[in-house]
Amino acid sequence: MQCCKTVRAAEPSDLDEVFGIEVESFDEPYPRWYFDLLYGLSGGEYFLVSESADGRITGYIVGIPLSGNVCHIASMAVSRECRRKKVGTVLLQSFMELCSSNGYSSFVLEVNTYNYPAQSLYISNMFRPMMFVPNYYGQGKHALVMALVGEQPCCLQPSD
Ligand SMILES: CC(C)(COP(=O)(O)OP(=O)(O)OC[C@H]1O[C@@H](n2cnc3c(N)ncnc32)[C@H](O)[C@@H]1OP(=O)(O)O)[C@@H](O)C(=O)NCCC(=O)NCCS
Repeated sequence: MQCCKTVRAAEPSDLDEVFGIEVESFDEPYPRWYFDLLYGLSGGEYFLVSESADGRITGYIVGIPLSGNVCHIASMAVSRECRRKKVGTVLLQSFMELCSSNGYSSFVLEVNTYNYPAQSLYISNMFRPMMFVPNYYGQGKHALVMALVGEQPCCLQPSD
């Protein structure tokens, strides 16, 4: 299967398929309604999906712009059958390009300390571990905050 024919902005009608990927990807998936909320919070704009050649949703990434130049990546996942085919890389890089074109040059996210595949993906895209958050996902389930810090918002004016 050609897993990533295109990456495009998500539509509300994609969210059931997105939720299907969420359910197969996480032990404790977000509830379906949370994707409606994320869609609203992201303005629809910061919610991308990958689509296969036969029109199936194969992955998603959603983020929320914060103040300054920072965008928080709220969730991403790729369907099991399409993993290790660079779909995650394409989604992440497409998302960062979209954000950068709108002035967001820094990115932050949380990832389970045991989620080595996701950490590897982020590290290979220049994210770095910043902070350990104990019990972030529940008792004994810790998170690593990872970030890619881009250009700082400006600052000093030249004095004359
Ligand atoms: C994490 C995830 C999105 C990666 O998507 P993907 O499409 O498989 O990733 P890619 O094919 O683009 O992989 C890019 C790089 O990430 C790393 N990587 C991805 N999966 C990996 C794995 N299972 N083991 C080790 N490294 C892995 C590798 O460095 C890989 O490059 P390589 O294939 O050239 O070695 C996917 O595994 C997934 O959906 N996991 C479940 C949900 C999840 O954990 N989401 C992130 C929450 S923070």
